[in-house]
Amino acid sequence: MEDNNPQRKMSEEERFQSDSYSYLEQPENATRYTLPIHFLEDAFKERSFSLLDLGCGNGALLKYLPSQCDYVGVDHSEYAIQYCSNLYPKRTFVCEDLWVFLRKLATENKKFDAVVLCGMIYHTVDKESQQRKNEQEIIQFCLDKIISDKGYLIIIIGLNYGNHPNHSLFVRAEWLQKLVEKMLETAKANIVYENLCLQIGLEKKIAQQKVIPEWFVQDASTDYSSKFVGTYWASWTFIGSPACVTG
Ligand SMILES: C[S@@+](CC[C@H](N)C(=O)[O-])C[C@H]1O[C@@H](n2cnc3c(N)ncnc32)[C@H](O)[C@@H]1O
Repeated sequence: MEDNNPQRKMSEEERFQSDSYSYLEQPENATRYTLPIHFLEDAFKERSFSLLDLGCGNGALLKYLPSQCDYVGVDHSEYAIQYCSNLYPKRTFVCEDLWVFLRKLATENKKFDAVVLCGMIYHTVDKESQQRKNEQEIIQFCLDKIISDKGYLIIIIGLNYGNHPNHSLFVRAEWLQKLVEKMLETAKANIVYENLCLQIGLEKKIAQQKVIPEWFVQDASTDYSSKFVGTYWASWTFIGSPACVTG
């Protein structure tokens, strides 16, 4: 499968310090997080659930998480963890490489009802070398060792596009969908939910296209405040569960 992603120019630490991730906290990006959380709230109606947020960044997911959720966020960026700890002093954050942390959890036989990889496909790197980690291996490990029997693996991928033919909305959406479906299939996960969530302001971009996709719903109340508006226009959410659970 062709890799259309541009080369990274900045380390994660530099990206945080240059404010590159603050757009994740803006309201127009809410759908990136609300859709999977609604899924979990529905799936765990009878009891609260635990959630491991791998590469939690600035903790944008937490804004939408129920307070009774037992949350752990892990990120190798000291800046990110400091930021999250100041913002959410009652939540648990760990500053560590996620792969190292996952292995520790497995040794302790600690499991979670939900493991979230949000914005981590193509963004899971070694902090020192900036080399990309094997995300297939991480997904497999989470399904085999970290996610409880009735738990879920949630993969969320921001979907942006531009004028280059490889970056058109259709090409990228289809490419990302195939990529993640293949990853989950290889890991023998049952895909229990899959959806594209639109973000506020998508209509402006769609309006510039020749073909309007059938899933597109017009948003008449667009109001931009963030300078990062348009960084992501939509995100795919994939929810898989360990193979031993059906449906
Ligand atoms: C694009 S940001 C996504 C942030 C957050 N998950 C969100 O979507 O709101 C990627 C994050 O993953 C972290 N990260 C990347 N590789 C990592 C690794 N090997 N271990 C821990 N954190 C990692 C980065 O520091 C950064 O905060």
